[in-house]
Amino acid sequence: MDMQPTKPAILVSRRVFPEVLERLRQHFEVDDNQADGILGVAGLQARLAGKSGALTAATDPVTAEVITAAPQLKAICNFAVGYNNIDLAACTRAGVMATNTPGVLDDTTADLAWALLMATARRLPAAERWLRNGEWKGWEFIQWLGTDVHHATLGILGMGRIGQAVARRALGFDMQVIYHNRTRLPAEQEAACRARFVDKDALLRESDFLILLLPYSPATHHSIGAAELALMKPTAHLINVARGGIVDDEALISALRQRRLSGAGLDVFEGEPAFNPAFLELDNVALTPHIGSSSRATRMAMAMRAADNLIAALSGQRPPDLLNPEVLR
Ligand code: DGY
Repeated sequence: MDMQPTKPAILVSRRVFPEVLERLRQHFEVDDNQADGILGVAGLQARLAGKSGALTAATDPVTAEVITAAPQLKAICNFAVGYNNIDLAACTRAGVMATNTPGVLDDTTADLAWALLMATARRLPAAERWLRNGEWKGWEFIQWLGTDVHHATLGILGMGRIGQAVARRALGFDMQVIYHNRTRLPAEQEAACRARFVDKDALLRESDFLILLLPYSPATHHSIGAAELALMKPTAHLINVARGGIVDDEALISALRQRRLSGAGLDVFEGEPAFNPAFLELDNVALTPHIGSSSRATRMAMAMRAADNLIAALSGQRPPDLLNPEVLR
């Protein structure tokens, strides 16, 4: 009898494109969650039983209890660049490789940061709501005045690949670009995006538009709170396309309400998909539902990159985006 070798079993925790499942099925027995309900800790524990690997999303809590409940698990491959949903130390202790998808979403996320910047600067969401509500009775000279983007100072907190992509786009707007990062960029990279390194206080004080691009961790929790907001210009705008929790949302709402800050463009929120309902009462915010990397081409590239990582990990190769190389030692 012709016995086919059994394929390793894997889980794909959220709905992905059929092309991605097709590719994975060439290598694995795939348990897909095309129904797309969020599995949570208990759901992941149940669905990971007997699985060698998984493609996971930022919405999946890959905690120590999830990892220990799946002793056969060899790889967790996030289809996201952020991986604060994964307990990396627990993966390493259990010998589970963890990967993310750096590089494939930089430009798309930088584009959304710019979309939010423009939207909050020129008050697009509120002006559009006003028009849709039939409130436009006539053109007025002094109507819906916004803030100029060109020639303003753009601040970037967190100057990785996405930060640099954001900075490069600022050249076309003749902006001054300043940034703060844990480590200063090499001179040639600073020159490529014409960005000047400053300390965090100077960044807060000098930025007309401040874009947050930090990874979330306990160390970056509430990096922007009441004290930081108080340093910002009252004419400034804050844009967050990184992670909820980097900003203290209560403090931000209070600053926006009191016009101690001119506006904000937010793609991420503390506790999302729930978010503080007070945001909805503010007319000086542009709000989007965590869509930074959401173009078809980029989401496809992210899922395929995660598939590359999983295929490599389960065929004895080093996955290209391994986050915990200690597991291979
Ligand atoms: C990412 O890649 O981290 C995006 O936020 C999508 O989760």
